[in-house]
Amino acid sequence: MIDIHSHILPGIDDGSKNVEMSLEMLSRISEQDIDTVFLTPHFYADMNDPESFLQKRREAFGTLVKGITDSGISCPRLLAGAELHYYRGIGRSEHITKFCMGNSRFVLIEPMFREWNPAFVDEIKEIGYNDDLKVIIAHIERYLDQDKALLRELINEPGIYIQSNAEFFIDRKTRRKALKMFEEGIIDFLGSDCHNMTSRAPNLEEAVNIITDKFGASCLRRIEENNALLLEEAMQGIK
Ligand SMILES: [Fe+2]
Repeated sequence: MIDIHSHILPGIDDGSKNVEMSLEMLSRISEQDIDTVFLTPHFYADMNDPESFLQKRREAFGTLVKGITDSGISCPRLLAGAELHYYRGIGRSEHITKFCMGNSRFVLIEPMFREWNPAFVDEIKEIGYNDDLKVIIAHIERYLDQDKALLRELINEPGIYIQSNAEFFIDRKTRRKALKMFEEGIIDFLGSDCHNMTSRAPNLEEAVNIITDKFGASCLRRIEENNALLLEEAMQGIK
């Protein structure tokens, strides 16, 4: 299994505060059946410029790798990505390809939290017309009270993929809805969106177990195929 959404890189966003916390998070993940983790720190265009963000990400990645080496912990494969918060103009942004997951053409987009409108959905779709990028919508469960027609338009758009967080399945208040959306084939990717070891800990395996307990192991095929496609692209040129 792949965790495509995490905030494990130390000191770059509201996720892991330091290398020690990052190593604890990775140790927790290594106890689970997860072989690859995408490190996807938040990028907010109104707060960061792309180049300084990417430089900070490189430094945080280097710090983390040194921590892993020094501590000798076993660790899944780590690949860099980002979680881009929507901003006006993102559909035509020349910078967006710099935020892809590894060497892939997939980009993880965090939609806006205020009320959606047709222009917003058009712009998300427009990202996909930009150099054949493939959009992954982060934590879809946070947007289920948005306009139903716009939500459906986004979900049904070819080239747009839908990610949900493990917590959507784990939380008993939302589990039924999560499993229904999974059964309907709406969810393409899973992620923990882990930020720390307490309130938002690495918890992907727990969600996977809930899904397979309900539908059987073969129900993960769709997720695994998408993971394989993402990983194959992401690893291009990486030894
Ligand atoms: Fe996130």
